[in-house]
Amino acid sequence: MLEVTGLNQYYAGSHILRDVVFSAPMGACTVLLGRNGVGKTTLLKCLMGVLPIRSGAITFDGRNVTNMPTYGRAAAGMAYVPQGREIFSRLTVEENLQMGLAVAKGRAARTIPEDVFEMFPVLRDMLHRRGGDLSGGQQQQLAIARALVSRPKLLILDEPTEGIQPSIIKDIERVIRTLSQRGDMAILLVEQYYDFARALADHYLVMSRGQVVKQGAGVDMDRDNIRDFVAL
Ligand SMILES: Nc1ncnc2c1ncn2[C@@H]1O[C@H](COP(=O)(O)OP(=O)(O)OP(=O)(O)O)[C@@H](O)[C@H]1O
Ligand SMILES: [Mg+2]
Repeated sequence: MLEVTGLNQYYAGSHILRDVVFSAPMGACTVLLGRNGVGKTTLLKCLMGVLPIRSGAITFDGRNVTNMPTYGRAAAGMAYVPQGREIFSRLTVEENLQMGLAVAKGRAARTIPEDVFEMFPVLRDMLHRRGGDLSGGQQQQLAIARALVSRPKLLILDEPTEGIQPSIIKDIERVIRTLSQRGDMAILLVEQYYDFARALADHYLVMSRGQVVKQGAGVDMDRDNIRDFVAL
């Protein structure tokens, strides 16, 4: 579903992403691990076209999206749950979800799909609450739901467990597993929480200093000592 080749990115003079190569297949959860500052978020921003790249190619669903603007990628079916959630704190839960629908022009329904509330029942209860009044965990669920209402073919999540209470982490894990097993979506999950990553990964990638230095099957993560590559 997603293929990245030879991707290089610089912030001013610093070479951050170095010849990054990987793919994320349909119906599977691909987990990207790596310590703080190795370039994980930078990579995701490049995938979404939020940051320019120096060289390389990004292919999504058989289309070359390398030079496509962010809204084009979103309309093509790429959805992004940013690190720190970035929900609209002054808008209600419902309005946040409607913002997610706005990118889906013609591809999805005009109404918020019911299954989003089945996945995150708390959002139905809080539909008219302002985003900023939700707890961190509820905001994370809202950010994921906002990405899902557009019925994406690729769901990209940047550290969804960061600063979230354990019970909500379990809920989020269940949702990601359901989505991954449904088979109609590719998932690219950036994580530093090893046990969460291990529980969900069909494939893993490890990034170090802007390069993918190791990869394999999720079931081999313990054997491959991948825990050593993350902070937690
Ligand atoms: N806007 C920016 N301008 C210059 N350098 C930046 C900018 N954003 C990030 N960097 C640098 O690029 C490198 C990669 O940062 P990035 O945020 O991609 O790392 P990360 O792997 O997501 O880290 P974390 O796990 O802490 O979220 C870091 O050295 C960081 O300091
Ligand atoms: Mg990051």
